[in-house]
Amino acid sequence: MSSIRAVLFDAYGTLLDIHSAVARHATRLGPDAAAISALWRSRQLEYSWVHSTTATYADFWRLTERALDHALAAHRLTDVTLRADLLDAFRRLDAFAGAADVLRTLRARGLRTGVLSNGTAQMLADALAGNGLIEALDAVLSVDPLRCYKPDPRVYRLGCDRFGEPPERIAFVSANPWDAFGAQRFGFRVFWLNRSGAAPEYGLAQHATILPELATLPDLLR
Ligand code: LAC
Repeated sequence: MSSIRAVLFDAYGTLLDIHSAVARHATRLGPDAAAISALWRSRQLEYSWVHSTTATYADFWRLTERALDHALAAHRLTDVTLRADLLDAFRRLDAFAGAADVLRTLRARGLRTGVLSNGTAQMLADALAGNGLIEALDAVLSVDPLRCYKPDPRVYRLGCDRFGEPPERIAFVSANPWDAFGAQRFGFRVFWLNRSGAAPEYGLAQHATILPELATLPDLLR
């Protein structure tokens, strides 16, 4: 019998397909579409780490805008309508197929479910609505009130505070290896979602359970 009482999920890249924003406008972006999406994401994350560690917090929506501005400028794109459309698409990213089913299955087994994300409360409310996710979540936790970002341990503490459980009774699922590492160091039981078969890093092969797809999670928490 598992001692896990609650399951927390990262949002962007784990439940939500971050590349679905660019995918919706791929024809307007041309052959660089995938590179633009990758640069947008990598700068979004880099800015979160830099602003967190230099105590110059700006919220995740602001960082998402700045990262897109950099990615578009790097590719010599100046279309302001395209910029607005990409940001709008990021507000309403596609959920990964089967994500809502996994949340519902976990809840049916008596586990509480939550999202713990860098996103602002409004970003998360927008992105989790309309795809079956919000109805299957007991908690949506944003770093925003803390004014710092993952992998600061204060962020992971939000999950314990919300569920009233110690870290070892909480499972944490993330497709982002650095986030999985932060959660594992905090003390959660970590599942690294490795959809692409990426090479392990941060000791996750030893200290986390590797999931090839989200649908394998419920059976591992029996
Ligand atoms: C999040 C980012 C890390 O949702 O994907 O917190």
